[in-house]
Amino acid sequence: MNDIYILAIESSCDETSMAIVKNGCEVISLSITTQMFTHAKYGGVVPEIASRMHTEAITYVLEDCLEKAHMKIEDMSAIAVTYAPGLTGSLMVGVEAAKILALMYHKPLIAVNHLIGHIYANNLESKMEFPLLALIVSGGHTELLIMEDDYKFIKLGETMDDAIGEAFDKVARVIGLPYPGGPNIEKLAKEGVHTYSLPIPVNDNTYNFSYSGLKSAVINLVHNETQRKKEIRKEDLAKSFQDAAIDELVRKVELAFKNTGIKRLVVAGGVSANEYLKSEMNKLCHKYDATLLIPRMLYCTDNAAMIGAAAYPKYLKKEFSDYSLNVSSSEDII
Ligand code: KG4
Ligand code: ZN
Repeated sequence: MNDIYILAIESSCDETSMAIVKNGCEVISLSITTQMFTHAKYGGVVPEIASRMHTEAITYVLEDCLEKAHMKIEDMSAIAVTYAPGLTGSLMVGVEAAKILALMYHKPLIAVNHLIGHIYANNLESKMEFPLLALIVSGGHTELLIMEDDYKFIKLGETMDDAIGEAFDKVARVIGLPYPGGPNIEKLAKEGVHTYSLPIPVNDNTYNFSYSGLKSAVINLVHNETQRKKEIRKEDLAKSFQDAAIDELVRKVELAFKNTGIKRLVVAGGVSANEYLKSEMNKLCHKYDATLLIPRMLYCTDNAAMIGAAAYPKYLKKEFSDYSLNVSSSEDII
C-alpha cells in the first residue's frame, strides 16, 4: 500500500497547529503557535480574541508546516481537522480552512474529535494495543474509558462538575499564579510539602470524578486564612492540592484495573504533562503489571499531530465528511 500523508489542522482552543502525519504514526512536520501569552493577561482564554488570532495565524502555520516537510498540498492523501469539542469560533477557523483546502485540492475531508485526538497522540509513540483503559485529563474533560478497538469506546465514568485541568487553573488563580495554572501549580508544588488536608473528591466505588468540592475547599482555606491574617504557604497548598487531585485519578484507575483486568493504560490530555501524575501512574501500573503509555510533552498538550494520528483509522475506513461539516462545542467521545 502507498504511504498515507494526512495534513491535520487543530484550532479548538488557544493553539493554532498543523501537522503532516505519515501512516498515522510518523510526524513529518508539526507547526504550533500558541496564544497563551495573550490570554495570560486576562487570566484565561478569551474566545473572541482566540478566534481572531487563529484567523491571523492559520495561513502562516500552513506555510511553515509544508515548508518544514518539503511537501505540497498536492502530496497529501487527505485533510483532517478538529471539529469538536472546543470554542466555537476557534473551531470554525480550522474547519473552514480544512474545507477550502479539501475542495480546492480534491482531497477527502476527515473530521476528528479533539479528545479522541489526545488518545491517538499515543500512536505517535508506539502503536496502541487493545483493549486498553484511556484516562482523559484536560482543561475541559476528565473521563475514564475502555477502548476495545480503534474508535470503539465504553465510558466508565466522567467528572460530575469541573474538569481536573479547570481545577488546576482556578486554584492557580486563587493563589496568584498566572494562566495556564497547571504547569505553574506543578512548578510551585515541587518546592512544597503536603501539609493542608483537603477533602477526597469522590470517595466511592464509582468511576465518577468531582473537582468542584476540592477547588472550593482551597478557595475557602485561602479566604479563611487571609481573614485571620495568617500566612498561606503557597508551595505547600499547591502540593496538597496537586496530591489530592491526582490521587483521585489514581484511585479510579486502580478500581478499573481491579474490575476489568485490562493491563494497559493510556493517559491523554494536557494534564498528562504533569510529572507527579506520571510517577503515580507508573507506580500503579507496576503494581498491576500493566503497561503505561503517556505521550511526550509536545504531544500531550494541544497539537495537530495527534489529529493526524486519529484521522488515520478513519481514512482507512473511508469515513469522510462532506462540505456541510460544522463545528460542535460540546460533542463528547460517546
Ligand atoms: O489538553 P489541553 O492542552 O487543552 C484542552 O483540551 O483542554 O489541556 C489544558 C489543561 C489546562 O487546564 C492546563 O492547566 C493543564 O492542561 N495542564 C497541566 C499541566 N500542563 C497543562 N495540569 C497539571 N500539570 C501540568 N504540568
Ligand atoms: Zn486538548
